[in-house]
Amino acid sequence: MKIQLSNTPLLEWAGDSLAIGLFEDAVELTGELAKLDEQFGGVLKELIAEEEFTAKAYSTIFTRVSAGSPIRKIILVGLGKPDALKLETLRRAAAAVARVAKKQKSKNLGLSLPLWDNKPAETAQAIAEGIQLALYQDIRFKSEPEDKGAKIETVDLLGLAGQEAAITRANQIVSGVNLARELVAAPANEVTPITLAETAQAIATEHGIEIQILEREDCEKLGMGAFLGVAQASDLPPKFIHLTYKPAGTPRRKLAIIGKGLTFDSGGLNIKGAGSGIETMKIDMGGAGATLGAAKAIAQIKPDVEVHFISAATENMISGRAMHPGDILKASNGKTIEVNNTDAEGRLTLADALVYADKLGVDAVIDLATLTGACVVALGEDIAGLFTPDDAVASQLEQAAESAGEKLWRMPMEDKYFEGLKSGIADMKNTGPRYGGSITAALFLKQFIKDTPWAHLDVAGPVWTDKENGYNSAGATGYGVRTLVNWVMSD
Ligand code: BES
Ligand code: MN
Ligand code: ZN
Repeated sequence: MKIQLSNTPLLEWAGDSLAIGLFEDAVELTGELAKLDEQFGGVLKELIAEEEFTAKAYSTIFTRVSAGSPIRKIILVGLGKPDALKLETLRRAAAAVARVAKKQKSKNLGLSLPLWDNKPAETAQAIAEGIQLALYQDIRFKSEPEDKGAKIETVDLLGLAGQEAAITRANQIVSGVNLARELVAAPANEVTPITLAETAQAIATEHGIEIQILEREDCEKLGMGAFLGVAQASDLPPKFIHLTYKPAGTPRRKLAIIGKGLTFDSGGLNIKGAGSGIETMKIDMGGAGATLGAAKAIAQIKPDVEVHFISAATENMISGRAMHPGDILKASNGKTIEVNNTDAEGRLTLADALVYADKLGVDAVIDLATLTGACVVALGEDIAGLFTPDDAVASQLEQAAESAGEKLWRMPMEDKYFEGLKSGIADMKNTGPRYGGSITAALFLKQFIKDTPWAHLDVAGPVWTDKENGYNSAGATGYGVRTLVNWVMSD
C-alpha cells in the first residue's frame, strides 16, 4: 500500500472511495462538500439524515454513488468536537476509514481530514500511522490467508502535498511498532532468548548500529546473579542484549531503554495456577519487543541522541535446576535478594539490567516491563503505569505518550511501602504484600539505580488487546514504541 500526497480538490479526485472528516457540531455540508453533494444529487444529505449521523469521533457511514461516476463510494468519518481534536483523533479516524475502505474492497482511497493545530507535518504523520497500523495483518502462522479480498493499493492524503518527510517518519515508526507486535504475538516456541538476540543482530546489521550480546559466562563475570537465577531452569541460554545507536556528531544527550525480556513466564516453582493466564505469558517480553521496535525506528530516524537498547532475555521455567522459593540471589550491585516468590522474576532480571545501564553514564534510563497483574487491576488494560521519583522525566514521558496516543498514568512511589519488601535474612525480598503490588515492584527496581534519572513503565495491560481497538487489531499492540521514539526525539 502506498501513501501519496496531493492537493487535488475533493471535486476532482477520482478513485474507489473518497473519505471526508466531519466535526460533531458542524454536520451541515458547506463549501467543497456542499458542491460534492450537489454533484451526486444530494446523496450525502440524505445519507446523514437517514443514518442520523452526528459525527461522533471515529464513527463512519458510507454510500455508493451513481454508477459511472469518477468515484464509487463516499465515506464520512466523525471527528468529535472541533476543540477536542487531537492527533490521536486523526490517527483513529484514519484507521476507521481504512477499515471501511478495505471491507468495501476499495483499491484506492482518497482521504480529506482537517489539520491538527495548523500543523501539516504532524497531521500527515498521524494519519499515515493510523492507516498503516490498522491495515497490518499477522498471517505468519496461518497456512492460508483468511481474507483474499482486494487490498488497498493507494491512499491519497488530500490537502497534504509536500509532507513527504512526515510520511517517511510514519513509515519508520510503523516498522518499529509492527516489529514489536510480531515479537509479542509470536509464541514462546518461536520467540526465544536466542531469536530475540538474532532479531537485535538483524537490526544492527540492517541499520548499521552497534551490538553486544552478553552470554551466560559474560553475565557471570559481571555478577548478574539475579538475572542468572531466573535463567537457570531454562534449557535455552540467556542472552543479555545491548544495542547502541550513536549519532554522527556529538550526542545532544544519552539515554538508555531497558525492556523486560521474559520470552515465557511459567511462574517458576511458584507456578502460575488455573486462571492466572499462563497460556498468555508469551507476552512477557512486551518490554523487550517495544525496546527492539524503538531501536529499529531510531536507527532509521537517526536523531542526534545516543540511545542504548537493553534486554536481559530469558525464560522463567521449572526444572531440577530451578530456583527454590526462598533462595537468596546476589545482584551485580552486590545487593542480596530473598526470592520469596519465583513468579516475581521480571524485577530480578531488570535489577541486573538497571545496574548495567546505570553504569553507562547516560542522562536517563527508562524501563518497560510487563511487570505486575496488580498494575492491570489498578489502571485497566489500556493504560500503563508510570513510576518515577523524577518529575522532569515524568512530564517528558507524559508528553511523549500524549502525542503518541499511548495512555499512561503516573503512580506514586510511596517509600514507606518498601517495608513490605523487608527480609529477615537478605537485603530485601522480591515480593511484598498483595495490595499495592505494582508500587512495591517499582520500589524494588529503584534499589538498582544510583543517581541516574530513571522511570519505570509497567506495560502488563496495554501490550495486548483481546478485541479490536482503534488502529489495533485483537492481539499485540506494539505499545511503547511510539512513546519511546517521541521521548528520544524530545528536547
Ligand atoms: N509477567 C507477570 C505479570 C503479568 C501479569 C504480565 C499479567 C502480563 C499480564 C509477572 O512476572 C508476575 O508474575 N507478576 C506477579 C507478581 C507477584 C508474584 C508479586 C503478579 O502480578 O501476580
Ligand atoms: Mn511472573
Ligand atoms: Zn513475568
